[in-house]
Amino acid sequence: MKSGNPTRIAGMGACLPTKVLSNFDLEKMVDTTDEWIRTRTGIRERRIVENGSATSDLALQAGREAVRNAGLKPTDIDLVIVATITPDMSFPSTACIVQNKLGAHHAAAFDMAAACSGFPYALSVADGMIRGGAHRNILVIGAEVLSPFIDWTDRSTCILFGDGAGAAVVSESSAKARGLLATYLGSDGSAAEILKIPAGGSAMPPTQRTVAEKMHTVKMSGSELFKIAVRTMGDAVQEVCKRAGWKLEDVDCLIPHQANLRIIQAVAERLETPMEKIFLNLEKYGNMSAASTAVALYEAAKSGAVRPGSNVILVAFGGGLTWAACAIKW
Ligand code: UT7
Repeated sequence: MKSGNPTRIAGMGACLPTKVLSNFDLEKMVDTTDEWIRTRTGIRERRIVENGSATSDLALQAGREAVRNAGLKPTDIDLVIVATITPDMSFPSTACIVQNKLGAHHAAAFDMAAACSGFPYALSVADGMIRGGAHRNILVIGAEVLSPFIDWTDRSTCILFGDGAGAAVVSESSAKARGLLATYLGSDGSAAEILKIPAGGSAMPPTQRTVAEKMHTVKMSGSELFKIAVRTMGDAVQEVCKRAGWKLEDVDCLIPHQANLRIIQAVAERLETPMEKIFLNLEKYGNMSAASTAVALYEAAKSGAVRPGSNVILVAFGGGLTWAACAIKW
């Protein structure tokens, strides 16, 4: 258990684009089949933005719902953190754009780049800032518009990803044994090469060549990542349980990053956790990077898979490499 004022998730929101891109649609775009995608990943369809919607547009809608569900006004929010690897632009931060459009006039704002681990990373930072006494109500958003950064001719990546946003208001809690009980963050930059968007930053600024060579799209060594994901997510769950004072059997609902059903099954096997305790929504949305665990937690709470008193673990893994887990007494 941690020191300082405990924190809780006071409200949640989500925003998914309405346009559905199914495996059958992808069959017409690349050399793949619905059967291959379903059996190798568990994904059936994903959501894709239309009409030039940006990450801040999805983040704003998810954030607005979370603030409303927390019973707060935008002016009650004193910090906005947007976890994303697809910001609207290099700067200003997407968090500043959301802060303004939301009317969170008393909030500071910054983005966090921890790829697919972004939402639990940002929850952990919010938790620490509230426990430290500097903030009271922090809006944490995981939001991605990945579709413009996908090579839609590369069958090994384009089948995996989707767009979306999820949000949570993290607030002070009066109950010591409720809320965010423990967090755990990790990274390994030595394996950065196996998942990245190489161009667009200062190391490889945009040129005609980088665009022609599709260097602004996601490059991934899928099978290498697969093994690391299973190991790091399994270890992260064990570590965060230890920090929360839980045994693995105490966990009621495990909400993993929704990258691949086979990764999730392998993590469950490693942890000897039955699949019935694991929340899944990747079939509908694919991998939404930082939005994945945020939307999954939102849907788990809405569907009753997570109820008041449930012991919940969020765990994620992604580019960086990064990994993160949170233990939450709902
Ligand atoms: O968010 C965190 C980051 N992402 C991940 O964690 C993703 C982790 N990795 C994965 O999910 C899996 O590695 C993939 C789904 C990406 C790939 O599955 P895999 O079982 O590791 O397949 P593979 O890469 O070993 O490829 C097996 C075969 C290859 O053909 P050959 O060389 O055996 O003839 C691929 O070319 O499957 C082929 N393949 C496809 N076939 C049909 C790859 N993509 C496709 C496809 N449709 N979409």
